[in-house]
Amino acid sequence: MKIKALAAVTAALIAAAPLAMAEATDDQLVVNGDLEIVTQTAAAAHLEGSVDEVFSGWKFRDEGTRAMQMDDFDNPGMIFVDQAREAWAAVEGTEGKSCASCHGEPEDMAGVKAVYPKWNEEAGEVRTLTMQMNDCRTNRMGADAWKYDGGDAVNMDALLSSVSRGMPMNVAIDGPAQSTWELGKELYYTRTGQLELSCANCHEQNYGNYIRADHLSQGQINAFPAYRLKNAKLNGVHNRFKGCVRDTRAETYKEGSPEFIALELYVASRGNGLSVEGPSVRN
Ligand code: HEC
Ligand code: HEC
Repeated sequence: MKIKALAAVTAALIAAAPLAMAEATDDQLVVNGDLEIVTQTAAAAHLEGSVDEVFSGWKFRDEGTRAMQMDDFDNPGMIFVDQAREAWAAVEGTEGKSCASCHGEPEDMAGVKAVYPKWNEEAGEVRTLTMQMNDCRTNRMGADAWKYDGGDAVNMDALLSSVSRGMPMNVAIDGPAQSTWELGKELYYTRTGQLELSCANCHEQNYGNYIRADHLSQGQINAFPAYRLKNAKLNGVHNRFKGCVRDTRAETYKEGSPEFIALELYVASRGNGLSVEGPSVRN
């Protein structure tokens, strides 16, 4: 009975595009005429039986939205990157330090974004980039933590993404991170809400189809933070998860919750091999 109800709801919700499936575009993403971004590649080994190829969400957006990401002058997300550069150099907290005091230039952090979320040995936990920044703020600067997925944190995330743009996502899923990854995977395949839909129902089984007016992508996070035309600001990963869970009419987890941290690790691992692409532009 449950299966039947699900099929009915899914059919009602997800109307196949007129010409069977509207394919992802063949266009290539090259930023500023020289930075090549991998937006389509072979899926990581752990995705065997799930998908053969992975695609950035960029491939599913309309031409106008895609174009905004091809030139940093047209990418509204870059304004927030500039704001974060100022925050990077600003002294804050009781220790009289800025991020720059210890880390030098933001460019010295190239490659960091590509491996997060990442296991932190000393803390014995998987950390998202936001958790790591907040650890530096509270424990090394004597400053207040930034609100999870609030403007300051998301802007800094965008700065750290921008200096890693073009590098392949490569999060580790084995060793001590494995149990967190398993939890994230379980969440990804769990149906939630009145609609009884999982992430996989939409982003694994139906990418390429239209849901209402929206061209469904694989729900990858290699391109986060994402500037959304809808709310005219940068959006963090957990914020996006929240919106998607809410769309299934389910109670949702909070930004920074253990569930969303685990889900972030899992979803990031589904994008291993795609380029770091943030800050991106989405509708
Ligand atoms: C007093 C020195 C200090 C300050 C100030 C500081 N950090 Fe750190 N940061 C560190 C140290 C030390 C590590 C390595 C910690 C670890 O691996 O547990 C680190 C690690 C990081 C990492 C992870 C790097 C990696 O390779 O995994 C990020 C990202 C980061 N800091 C961001 C920031 C940001 C953003 C700020 C400013 C808001 C900041 N830090 C301020 C000392 C500092
Ligand atoms: C009812 C279908 C549906 C479900 C279920 C759903 N999403 Fe989405 N999701 C969407 C739509 C529609 C969009 C916007 C178009 C797109 O990029 O797919 C979206 C976008 C996203 C994006 C942004 C991708 C980008 O490149 O901008 C991410 C990330 C995402 N979803 C993750 C998830 C995760 C994780 C779950 C499970 C917790 C989930 N979604 C569940 C429909 C869904």
